[in-house]
Formats: sequence, C-alpha cells, structure tokens
Amino acid sequence: MAILEILEYPDSRLRTKAKEILPEEFDAALQKQIDDMFETMYEAPGIGLAATQVDFHKRLFIIDISEDKSEPLVFINPEIVEKRDIETNEEGCLSFPGVYAKVERAKGVKVKALDRDGKPFEIDTDEFLAIVIQHENDHINGKVFVDYLSPLKQKRIRTMLEKQQKKKLRAG
Ligand code: NI
Repeated sequence: MAILEILEYPDSRLRTKAKEILPEEFDAALQKQIDDMFETMYEAPGIGLAATQVDFHKRLFIIDISEDKSEPLVFINPEIVEKRDIETNEEGCLSFPGVYAKVERAKGVKVKALDRDGKPFEIDTDEFLAIVIQHENDHINGKVFVDYLSPLKQKRIRTMLEKQQKKKLRAG
C-alpha cells in the first residue's frame, strides 16, 4: 500500500467532476487504489476521503466513522436517492487542513452504490454518516464544503490556506 498525496484547496483539480466506474474497471488496480485511499485516510487521520482528493477522477469515495478503523465503507458510483430534514453540523476536510465550518445539509439520506466488488448496496441513515456521505459525494461532483459559505468566508479560508501552503513549500 502507499500513502497518496491529498490535494489541498484551492487546487483546481478538486473541481473535476468524476467519471462513472465501468464494470470492466473492477480490477486489481482499482482494489489497490481503494487500499491506498484507506491507508491515506487512516494516516491523515480522517473519516472520509473521495477519489477526487487524491487526483483520481472516478466516482469513488470511502468512509470509516468508527473509532478503531473497524467500519470501512466503499461507495462506487453512488447515488443519493432520498434526502430528508435539515441539520447544521461543523465540518472539516482533509483538503482544508485546520478549517472547520458550519454547513447545512439533509439530516437523513438514502444512498445506493456499489461496493468494492461491484455488488450493489443501499444505506438509509439519519445518523452522522448521512452528513459524511453528502460531503464525500460533493467531492466527486467537484464541490467542496466551503462552497456553502458566504463569499467573504470563502475568501478568508482561501487566503489562509494559500499562506499555509507557501510556508510548507518554503520549509520543504
Ligand atoms: Ni472533504
């Protein structure tokens, strides 16, 4: 396995709309991509990671909201088929180190997707998982959580992250 580089905002590649994974693409390379994404997410550490964030533009994201890495979930070609109620939660993102912001989303979702072997499954949840699913699903559509904030807040976050990145470059 390998740790992948996570793209950081405002990297324009985060705006890529990912393509569907075709049946013939469920091969060893895809399994390795998924394993590498889990390793990258756990190491970060994070609770969700979309393929878009590691510059792989296919409709795939992973989630594990357990405390002991015991509930890995893989979503391929996901479709949110139902959204209900509204809730505001503080969100963070591996592509926005140190940034947290309140975002309004549906409290509950029903999602249909394929697992890593291409087998269809469905999750219907009103738990925290519903929020993470919406956040990750946005990524594969080229959307990020700060898009929901005011232009002024977005500008502030952008300036802060650009400063951080410059500092990192100088240090490296
Ligand atoms: Ni994110």
